[in-house]
Amino acid sequence: MTTTDVRYVGSALDRVDGVEKVTGAARFAFEYRPRDLTYAAPVQATIARGEIKGLDAGAALKVPGVIAVIWHGNAPRLAPSDAAELSVLQSPRVAYRGQYVAVVVAETLEAAQEAAALLRPEYAEEGHDVELRADHPRLYRPEHVNPRYPADDERGDPDAALASSPVVVDATYTTPAEHNNPMEPHAAIAEWDAGGLTVHDSTQQPSGLRGQLAPLFGMPPEQVRVIAPYVGGGFGSKGRAHPYVVLAALAAKQVGRPVKLAVTRREMFAVTGYRTPTIQRVRLGAEADGRLGAIVHEVWEQTSTLAEFAEQTAVVTRMMYAAPHRRTTHRLVRLDVPTPSWMRAPGETPGMFALESAMDELAVACGVDPIELRARNEPAADPDTGLPFSSRNLLACLREGAGRFGWEDRDPRPGVRRRGGLLYGTGVASSTYPAYRAPAQATARAEPDGSYTVRIAAADIGTGAKTVLTQIAADALRAPVALVRVEIGDSALPQAPVAGGSMGTASWGTAVVRACEALTRELEESGGRVPPGGAEASAATAQEIKEQEKYARHAFGAQFAEVAVDAATGETRVTRLLGVFAAGRIVNPKTARSQFVGGMTMGLSMALMEESVMDDRFGDYLNHDLAQYHIAAHADVPDVRAYWVEEDDPHLNPMGAKGIGEIGIVGTAAAVANAVHHATGVRVRDLPIRLDRLV
Ligand code: MOS
Repeated sequence: MTTTDVRYVGSALDRVDGVEKVTGAARFAFEYRPRDLTYAAPVQATIARGEIKGLDAGAALKVPGVIAVIWHGNAPRLAPSDAAELSVLQSPRVAYRGQYVAVVVAETLEAAQEAAALLRPEYAEEGHDVELRADHPRLYRPEHVNPRYPADDERGDPDAALASSPVVVDATYTTPAEHNNPMEPHAAIAEWDAGGLTVHDSTQQPSGLRGQLAPLFGMPPEQVRVIAPYVGGGFGSKGRAHPYVVLAALAAKQVGRPVKLAVTRREMFAVTGYRTPTIQRVRLGAEADGRLGAIVHEVWEQTSTLAEFAEQTAVVTRMMYAAPHRRTTHRLVRLDVPTPSWMRAPGETPGMFALESAMDELAVACGVDPIELRARNEPAADPDTGLPFSSRNLLACLREGAGRFGWEDRDPRPGVRRRGGLLYGTGVASSTYPAYRAPAQATARAEPDGSYTVRIAAADIGTGAKTVLTQIAADALRAPVALVRVEIGDSALPQAPVAGGSMGTASWGTAVVRACEALTRELEESGGRVPPGGAEASAATAQEIKEQEKYARHAFGAQFAEVAVDAATGETRVTRLLGVFAAGRIVNPKTARSQFVGGMTMGLSMALMEESVMDDRFGDYLNHDLAQYHIAAHADVPDVRAYWVEEDDPHLNPMGAKGIGEIGIVGTAAAVANAVHHATGVRVRDLPIRLDRLV
């Protein structure tokens, strides 16, 4: 595909599955009804640490319609696994409150729930430790942080550079645990037959989930099929297997019938992952003009006793700004808590809250405009790898955003813009996200009727991926989109990586283009005529991707926020958000805008509301529903605008696209916190910006 061929890439095509979704014709994981379906109701541990001593299933088994009560005492054995979290009902140990300890299977959901409520496992409770502290005695350095970065890095002599810097910012920031709340909670229907296991699951990666499930049941991947044509959001929480899907498969095996297990919103808070809380100390050493000499970013975060998830919180600091001296570290402690996991831009999101807040503090300390400060610290090459950036348009985003937002005549003095009882302020922060890409396979088929079918085990989690792949395929085939059908969401399709890491379009799109190119060549060789049985070509991109090591690839952006703070109560409203992004070619302006605006809204939510509160006494996050875990609703989001700059980057992929799913959330919370400082003079370093932190 060359630029001159482009017809659909870049156009605001409506979603190819929009009508199915709004009419309810699209079926989500929960909505299948296989014959002989049964229903599962799990039982969650009511202690945070200890051992199950016994379970009297008598009363539960007497509930009419109950088929089985399964716990570690009678559960089918799974193969030993490194993923201890997935070894459900295999041991009497309880590693966190809310862990699945039993499941009831019944003819109806009501019977299963009634019976589950009768189960009272006997526990030998042990003391728990659920508190993240930067001075925790069991802190350790993980080997790697997600997905495979070194935990620590050091350049030059940061301590000496800090000691001799005329201006030093030394501040500690904290972010709370946050829980993913996709609109569709997780759900699975598991069914066994002679061929193996079939699972309808709400997942971000059919291929990957198949790969995780098969070894647990001692089977080759070909005997597991994961089906997920529609997914109602995920934000990372559906990016890897969670215990519920194993529990559904295990229960279905035990009862010999299909089992439906729908995770409730309340259960989700314990069993489908969350963003680790972080403690972050950032030290910036600069000249009087704001030029950085040293950056030190130290992070403390948690994981569980079952598995290590080490968020890459400070990794972004390795590539963001030029500074000859740098240190970034990650320390982890294993607590009696569920295992943290991916939540939209894991790492960059909390990390950039700290770094971009500290940059604002430095701008204030030096009396330099925050945008000019960033311009003075723009690196010539990637400070982490030393490689040239394939493209880096951070400053273009900041400058275009400044113009659109009305930044130029900003009075930097804090706390001086009062209208009525409200204090107004504006803030800015940088944004970035890596342009990842992973190997994928795809097939393209010319049908005898003149249409095309493209197949790839991608997942559309609400992003518009299926639409975008249709555009990409149509251009590669030089065919109208109406003649192109893209099939996704099934592990039986050609292998594809996760809808995560903002790499879906780049990864899947490359495979789709290569398959379509191969098909076009094949048809040209046969004289342009489609044989009676159709023609098919396939492609795999592993080799192509391996050859790409010459550039550092990242998307960039600028986030602007305006806030109004009630001078009496401290109540904070975000009155405006404006983002400008540089993310390569935008394949579909309509779906892209939705991704940017959605990410920014989630960032607003993070800044002002989202907080999972640990109850030390019970050892559990105490807010388990949307009444107590607050996320931004429409009334909280008056004016969010997303723009992008033209970016023609030839070093990416055939589409010229960088990812856009996550960058929208990165930097938003810092922009809001910086605006709050500008409004009030109060620097809030602990999220969320609750009113008690302002007054
Ligand atoms: Mo995203 S947290 O990589 O789904």
